[in-house]
Amino acid sequence: MPPFATAPQVLRTSAEMTAWSRAAHARGERIAFVPTMGALHAGHVALLEEGRRRGDQLVLSIFVNPTQFGPNEDLARYPRDLPGDLARAASAGTDIAFVPEPADVYPPGFQTTIEVRDLARGLDGLFRPGHFAGVATVVAKLFNIVQPDVSIFGQKDFQQLAIVRRLVVDLAMGIEIVGLPTVREPDGLAMSSRNAYLSPAERTRALSLSRALFAARDRAAAGERDAHAVVEGARAALEVDRVDYLELCDAATLTPLVQIDRPAVLLVAAFIGRTRLIDNVLIGA
Ligand code: PAF
Repeated sequence: MPPFATAPQVLRTSAEMTAWSRAAHARGERIAFVPTMGALHAGHVALLEEGRRRGDQLVLSIFVNPTQFGPNEDLARYPRDLPGDLARAASAGTDIAFVPEPADVYPPGFQTTIEVRDLARGLDGLFRPGHFAGVATVVAKLFNIVQPDVSIFGQKDFQQLAIVRRLVVDLAMGIEIVGLPTVREPDGLAMSSRNAYLSPAERTRALSLSRALFAARDRAAAGERDAHAVVEGARAALEVDRVDYLELCDAATLTPLVQIDRPAVLLVAAFIGRTRLIDNVLIGA
């Protein structure tokens, strides 16, 4: 931690968080917000640094949201490290860490769900039923509690970012959504809290995701317009145990493409051992 970094103030309840935000707004301050599930890595720090540039006050939330995990997913073993997270948050100049309990976010009787229909249908929406309803609902709730002016998300969760952008427009939330490019390890692996699950041998195989995506992007840049050819080339380069999806989609609507004739994105979700990783690259038309 740089010597100038002071620890963020930790707020534990929605009531405290909203009261703090109202006071900041009353002072005319702009609030930047980075929602996370903790286990912060360099990708999160980049989001926080962008938030620091864009807001007078920088709020981070740390909440492992149970409703976005399926019954056989990794909720119980999801990495948790509050002291480490607070140190990283401090190094990025975070003012407030909002760390609520599930019972605060989902009080007794909670029964409202937000669904972003079309954007949540394919890709992860298909393989993780209910996941994006969980994400959209908790993000909307966190926005209501924190009342940010701007919120920063990573493009690694490309479908999530598209859904959050849609949600904010559809519900007239008036929050600026900023998407930042995926932060990668020097060897190309996309930063993810789930990388912590990988054994050294699995991590080596995980590199095949970014390698396959980059090769596909190069092939499209060299003039290949047939989406099937680009996807199958990428598939052949994957050294994974199971592919959930590998799809080349319209970057705006996330519908699959036959021809690469508009801005596109190639997205992958695959298992290496028990660990499910996602990654994507933008592919120009
Ligand atoms: O990207 C994440 O970490 C989560 O999906 C989010 C946006 C914090 C909602 O729980």
